[in-house]
Amino acid sequence: MKCAVVYGEKSAQHHHFIEAGKEYFDNVLGVPLEGIRTVSTEDGTKLKYRDADLSEFDAVYLRLLGADMMNAEHFAEILHDKSVYTQMDSDSLPIASNKFYMMKILSEAELPVPESAYTLSSDQTIRAAEKIGYPAVIKIISGYGGKGVMKASTESDIGPITDTLALFEQEICLQEYIENPGEDIRVIVIGDETYSYKRVGDEEFRSNISTGGNREKVDPSEEMIEACIKASRLCGLDISGIDILESEDGGFYIGEVNASPGVEGVEEVLDVDMADRIMEFIHNQAERP
Ligand SMILES: Nc1ncnc2c1ncn2[C@@H]1O[C@H](COP(=O)(O)OP(=O)(O)O)[C@@H](O)[C@H]1O
Ligand SMILES: [Mg+2]
Repeated sequence: MKCAVVYGEKSAQHHHFIEAGKEYFDNVLGVPLEGIRTVSTEDGTKLKYRDADLSEFDAVYLRLLGADMMNAEHFAEILHDKSVYTQMDSDSLPIASNKFYMMKILSEAELPVPESAYTLSSDQTIRAAEKIGYPAVIKIISGYGGKGVMKASTESDIGPITDTLALFEQEICLQEYIENPGEDIRVIVIGDETYSYKRVGDEEFRSNISTGGNREKVDPSEEMIEACIKASRLCGLDISGIDILESEDGGFYIGEVNASPGVEGVEEVLDVDMADRIMEFIHNQAERP
């Protein structure tokens, strides 16, 4: 069986999946996003990389971050048409690449999410913040790794941030700040299985590992696990990483759903080789008729 791992310029962890996949597939091809040609011919649309046709593979694992997801929005549909297994639905990338769209979908399914607004200008962001209240969290719509997430503690903080984002023509997802001690829970969903750990931020409100956060053990509630599996399904993802914010009153909120969760270093806290778990799952899915 043949598997391809497609990765964007922003991804730094694809080699773990290429390596782990060798255990399950005869052939694992690493494919950089910018090396792909989408070609329409009389036998349909194909995804080509050098001489290879990804539409003839058994499985394609799409590992894309941030705005790279937007350049690959049509990939899943093309692969599904050719019966190639990929870990997401045809409409997953437009959801996963947009922090607001994702909140809208989860909230409409009655999952707990921070109150959120989508804005395109400084004026409207400030107006939405007046309603949501301070502190407010301002997120660039397609940010990742903690980059593009900011906190405005008061009304006087927000103007300089929104003016800067307007200058860079950024779309904004404004959110209610969930009071928390600078930590969150990352739940990795693989089909019906979940693996969880806590991320503790390095003296700031963002707890991403890439901004200096550390992993610790955690025992999430049944309710939290169910919400994560449901959130992953709503985004059409078989594999995802969900960020959970625990509020001071004992409740929880889903902060975001990541389509390409990081795996590096997870083994140290969970004693599980995450890349291996993921590639085994992809292999088993690809084997199904
Ligand atoms: N609404 C919020 N309230 C409090 N903290 C938040 C909120 N949203 C995000 N954070 C913190 O910021 C971090 C990064 O935000 P997130 O939306 O997950 O962006 P990224 O895609 O960059 O990881 C989260 O892991 C969490 O620690
Ligand atoms: Mg996150």
